[in-house]
Amino acid sequence: MGFVIAIDGPAAAGKGTLSRRIAETYGFQHLDTGLTYRATAKALLDAGLPLDDEDVAEKMARAVDLGGLDRSVLSRHEIGEAASRIAVMPAVRRALVEAQQAFSKREPGTVLDGRDIGTVVCPSSPVKLYVTASPEVRARRRYDEIVADGKPADFEAIFADVRKRDERDMGRADSPLKPAADAHLLDTSEMSIEAAFQGAKTIIDAAL
Ligand code: C5P
Repeated sequence: MGFVIAIDGPAAAGKGTLSRRIAETYGFQHLDTGLTYRATAKALLDAGLPLDDEDVAEKMARAVDLGGLDRSVLSRHEIGEAASRIAVMPAVRRALVEAQQAFSKREPGTVLDGRDIGTVVCPSSPVKLYVTASPEVRARRRYDEIVADGKPADFEAIFADVRKRDERDMGRADSPLKPAADAHLLDTSEMSIEAAFQGAKTIIDAAL
């Protein structure tokens, strides 16, 4: 069993950038578990299947190929929205959690990021980080990213979306987003990604 670094937190808190940087630094494999929910949602949307049929969604979840996940084809807003809807279904979560747990056994170690890694997927992980930032800061970062991409963006709509996603992720009955009791909190509202990385590195080095 490799060394598992569990990184959780709400959408747009900086988890993705931080997780990739940590994985690179330690030579660990990285799994962005949000992509497993997004890939399941995209498969349902592409096939024109309903998003509220748990059996159908579970079959799609079991067919997800962890090797073929690519954020650039899964980043669309409708896919994120559909992902957070199917993520409330226990059978979908069970299927994806099994695949994520199998991934977490890879050597020499892994970084998994998502919403329930420290609480459900890898509860015995020796390093758990809960990365967060205020909804305003997260919406601003997403807005800046879209604008930097040369696309039109509406701050109020993005802000409303961040809050809606938080409500759904924190309010669901199965595996709600919350910090594990033994997670280290990293609030990046007023912190650069570099400072967050240094904070994380100090915590990981102490546990290795
Ligand atoms: O992180 P990302 O925005 O790509 O995740 C999409 C959706 O997948 C989230 O809003 C959340 O509902 C769900 N998700 C989850 N558990 C995870 C990762 C993502 O429920 N471990």
